[in-house]
Amino acid sequence: MSRKFFVGGNWKMNGDKKSLGELIQTLNAGKVDPNVEVVCGAPSIYLDFARSKLDGKFGVAAQNCYKVAKGAFTGEISPAMIKDCGVNWVILGHSERRHVFGESDELIGQKTAHALENGLGVIACIGEKLDEREGGITEKVVFAQTKVIADNVKDWSKVVLAYEPVWAIGTGKTASPQGLAPWFQTRSRETESVAEDQRVRGRGSVTGGTCKELASQKDVDGFLVGGASLKPEFIDIINAKA
Ligand code: G3P
Repeated sequence: MSRKFFVGGNWKMNGDKKSLGELIQTLNAGKVDPNVEVVCGAPSIYLDFARSKLDGKFGVAAQNCYKVAKGAFTGEISPAMIKDCGVNWVILGHSERRHVFGESDELIGQKTAHALENGLGVIACIGEKLDEREGGITEKVVFAQTKVIADNVKDWSKVVLAYEPVWAIGTGKTASPQGLAPWFQTRSRETESVAEDQRVRGRGSVTGGTCKELASQKDVDGFLVGGASLKPEFIDIINAKA
């Protein structure tokens, strides 16, 4: 079964109602390849805003959620709250959650299970740091990250795995699936979606100019885009396969 091309935009902690409103107007007016699934990751406080303004052809994702339904967890949001805003996706395990906020593989696995149980689709991020790659433990790290996620997934149709090596974010280097592809293939199930992130930040990032070439590469069936997802060129990236 062929996977639908998936393009996630991760707005991270950027924008305000004015700038995001303008971006949303541009996206809504853009022509989107119907064979591509597009999801925009909005800051928690703008989830409702994004969902109410974005055209239905775009999905919306939260950028994080907690592992339980409710309670004394100041600052956290639950999958139920996300769904209550009409939002159906969540990004979990992003490298910034792992390495800025110290989230463990175990916690990300628990969040994945809880989000899926509550009906959210999960964009699950994995990827090694530069010192891990240079230390020759890329596979060990990525496999451990993926195993904890996989152990908590029953229905892969609700999960997109985004391979996003930390050393390829903002460094001008290109990440390639390389040796990881065979492993993903052996793990793959009919509906599993594996998004290989080959972006490089800044001018080297996936852009309207480079996205087509990247999208045509074997084993690449999607992107998770940061900075460029805040710009009109996101439309070109969405349509990279068209
Ligand atoms: O989640 C996507 C992000 O980590 C990549 O950001 O700005 O390098 O495209 P950026």
